Amino acid sequence: MQTNEDQKVNEQNGSHQEVDDASQIKYFGGHEYDGIKELDNPLPPWLKYIFYITIILAFSYWTRLFVFHDDNIIQRREYAKEMAVANAKTDVAVKEEASRAAAAAPLTKEQILSDGKVTFDKICFVCHGKFGEGLVGPNFTDDYWIKGGRPEDLKKVITEGVLDKGMLSYKSQLNNAQIDHVIAYILSLQGTNPPNPKAPQGVKVEK
Ligand code: HEC
Repeated sequence: MQTNEDQKVNEQNGSHQEVDDASQIKYFGGHEYDGIKELDNPLPPWLKYIFYITIILAFSYWTRLFVFHDDNIIQRREYAKEMAVANAKTDVAVKEEASRAAAAAPLTKEQILSDGKVTFDKICFVCHGKFGEGLVGPNFTDDYWIKGGRPEDLKKVITEGVLDKGMLSYKSQLNNAQIDHVIAYILSLQGTNPPNPKAPQGVKVEK
């Protein structure tokens, strides 16, 4: 219950402000219920100004975001950055997958022959001629073979060499695939007619 002592009208400024006797807090009107007095004090100025500032900030933020579509807003920046990272990861994954698929896929005949030619043009041409026509080593374009014309015969010569005749062993210099590919290349030279062919050596192999 309000008492007269509690509820003195503040006559000094002529407003409806009242002063709580116990705490000396000024309040506007208010009411009391069950002995609890609800005061209607003004907000402290600092709190009020923070509140105004948040309104201004919110408005300016909203304008930047929705009116000017500013990409420099932190969320947009973060989003762009994270998307770039994610895309980069995806690109790497896609590339890895592609190279894995490429590695798993069997080589085409052209790839095998061109890989074999690389080895041939780097090492073998010195003795067997640029076109396999034969120099120090035998001619690969005719039907004659010293050690046999089957791929496994060629493989044996290339891996073990014929050291006393000047044909080296290439098993430490070439890997298995390189040897197989150069064999395929050599066999592909069969029947070509290069200039200056070396005379046949060995035994004619009928196909
Ligand atoms: C230093 C010279 C030299 C080089 C380099 C050389 N060869 Fe020979 N190659 C020979 C000679 C010489 C023979 C003949 C050996 C014999 O009389 O049995 C021969 C024989 C061969 C034969 C057996 C031919 C036949 O008629 O049976 C094959 C296959 C062969 N070489 C493959 C190669 C390959 C592949 C390379 C490159 C990786 C190569 N050679 C590099 C000198 C060479």
